[in-house]
Amino acid sequence: MKIKPVRGTHDLFGSNLAKYNEISKIVSKYAEKSNFIELKTPIFEFTNLFTKPLGSQSDVVLKEMYTFKDRNEDLLTLRPEYTTPMIRAAITNNLFNELPLKLYGIGSMFRRERPQKGRYRQFNQINFEIFGSNDSIVDIELIVLANVILKSIIPNSNIKLHINSLGKKENLINYKDNLTKYFNEKKSQLSLESIEKINTNPLRILDSKSENDIEIANKAPIIHEFLSDESITHFNEIKYGLDFYGIDYIEDPKLVRGLDYYCSTVFEFKTNELGSQDTLLGGGRYDGLIHKLGGPDIAGIGWAAGIERISLLMENIKINPCNLHIAITKEDYKDHLIKIIKYLNRNQISFYWNYKYNLKKSLSKANLSNANYAILIGENESKNNFYTVKNLITGEQSELNIDNIKDFINDKSW
Ligand code: HAM
Repeated sequence: MKIKPVRGTHDLFGSNLAKYNEISKIVSKYAEKSNFIELKTPIFEFTNLFTKPLGSQSDVVLKEMYTFKDRNEDLLTLRPEYTTPMIRAAITNNLFNELPLKLYGIGSMFRRERPQKGRYRQFNQINFEIFGSNDSIVDIELIVLANVILKSIIPNSNIKLHINSLGKKENLINYKDNLTKYFNEKKSQLSLESIEKINTNPLRILDSKSENDIEIANKAPIIHEFLSDESITHFNEIKYGLDFYGIDYIEDPKLVRGLDYYCSTVFEFKTNELGSQDTLLGGGRYDGLIHKLGGPDIAGIGWAAGIERISLLMENIKINPCNLHIAITKEDYKDHLIKIIKYLNRNQISFYWNYKYNLKKSLSKANLSNANYAILIGENESKNNFYTVKNLITGEQSELNIDNIKDFINDKSW
């Protein structure tokens, strides 16, 4: 039986790997320009780093974490997200000593979800966090950065920014109580899945996909009725900033996000081009979380985007095949072959040889790869110490001394 990969995982190569590398390159460029420091954390952490902060009733903690016992009985989890490991790492390495702190990272996350287009069990995230400021300028900076990065990677995609405010923790608790009361009154009309969430996680009923639930959720109390004046001002400032930058947004009072640590600003960039996995990027504020994890009592805000979902919206990237091939007739001329290989390597000239002493096969490979040039080695070349460079498009051939090959190649536009 053919050996199989684990469900929901995939190998990256060819155009998909080129897309991954292109995304990383663009992200790093903008991160450095905006003074973010790169941080890579281990892919596994102690399980309790995730359970409470993400919410013991969240889908991620209830169903999706890859958790296992180490040989010494420690409970470990493959990171399902980057925010909590970043905070843990900042505490471990005393990075909060100097504020504000701006961190970014790119790496693999693990969630045991049902795989489908745009949803995998191992996937990659770009992640940005800013610690140490409550100012709405920071919310605006991060949303603008997200917008610039997405626009520069997928300029032609239809992407919409959704924003909401969940207010301060106390506003949110009050709101949740009201939602629980409302959904309890409508219990008989809700889906089983939503009934289970009424008392534990009523916010999640707001983004249920069941038609009945949606109808009931549309009439539920909305968060804005529970926001403090301070939260409303903060939210208005963000909207003013987005208008100022000319970034369109949809105010979405039902946007609550899937992880428990959020408060105040939450946002998502969505597309209608990916079917049900339509969120490309999501984030928000999580004031109080850093303190809960043992760090200073400071504010935090960030976002993450799925590299695979962004890749699905990118055009295929053509991998440039090697333009210069070597073709040799017989093993007898190996000395002459080694000489040219050393010369090309020394001069950092990329070349391809199929490791075959067979002119026909090597040339046919060169033609298949649409290469423009081949260096030919046969009896005459070896005996008289020169190389024949053939233009595979025109058929034109030039006999060259090894030392002239570099200039000859540089002269040609390839
Ligand atoms: P999240 O919404 O869980 O947020 O994930 C962020 C993004 O990761 C999603 O919008 C999606 O593009 C991608 N993603 C999530 N799950 C999968 C999956 N199974 N397969 C493929 N892509 C996926 C967070 O993770 C928060 N830590 C974001 C954040 C940072 N909030 C504040 N700072």
